Amino acid sequence: MTTNREDLQKQISAIRWFHRINLGAGLVTPGLDDTPAKLERVRLPVDLRGKSVLDIGAWDGFFSFEAERRGASRVLAVDSFCWSGEGWGSKAGFELARRVLNSKVEDAEMEVLDLTPEKIGTFDVVLFFGVLYHLRHPLLALEKVAAVTKSHLILETKVDLMSLGAPAMAFYVGDELNHDPTNWLAPNIPGLCDMLRAVGFKRVEVVDRPGSWLGRWLRALGRGKSPRRESQRGRVTVHAWK
Ligand SMILES: C[S@@+](CC[C@H](N)C(=O)[O-])C[C@H]1O[C@@H](n2cnc3c(N)ncnc32)[C@H](O)[C@@H]1O
Repeated sequence: MTTNREDLQKQISAIRWFHRINLGAGLVTPGLDDTPAKLERVRLPVDLRGKSVLDIGAWDGFFSFEAERRGASRVLAVDSFCWSGEGWGSKAGFELARRVLNSKVEDAEMEVLDLTPEKIGTFDVVLFFGVLYHLRHPLLALEKVAAVTKSHLILETKVDLMSLGAPAMAFYVGDELNHDPTNWLAPNIPGLCDMLRAVGFKRVEVVDRPGSWLGRWLRALGRGKSPRRESQRGRVTVHAWK
């Protein structure tokens, strides 16, 4: 299907985007999230030539398309909440971007807990960004993710209780975390690493962690949030290998 720039701009404007995707001709989708900043934080391998990649919770598909651009031989994007229309967005962005980018990324509407090697196979590299804290059963979810990971998992998530040295996990009552009732639980960094080892990853490396406690405290104050709670929270990226 050929679309001119003006048509494409109209189609882009009709969608509520999460990702900022460069669709060419100077058009970048107006995503809510700072996708370029996240791309830096997750340390996606520069060269994915010949690798199969699974992107769990893909939403608009930025990271799936980026894996394809970096040479992945097969990319499968899966999502459920947003793609089914129950969530904060829809599948329209993914479909539009895939068409405009002339991408061969495959898609499956699936829940994390339904992922099995029998249903989708196993993948060299699995991307699991921004999903873990939306799940009511994080350890079970990590078990499912591990089962479809052949070798390398890249996980980006929220962490909490950062002053505790021992493994621990925060449970959010109602919409306590970011006024979003779909946020359930966030481990601290030792807890996250131990959970990954418990589901079969032999090497676990935290490649990106939140800034200093003082920086988090000051940022919370600047945003009018409780520094006592907010200074405990942040986001991390972990790479884990079987
Ligand atoms: C915060 S967004 C993150 C999107 C993308 N991975 C990123 O990091 O930019 C969370 C995504 O996870 C999806 N999601 C939430 N719960 C899910 C579940 N149980 N199974 C599959 N996908 C889920 C949502 O639909 C949404 O697309």
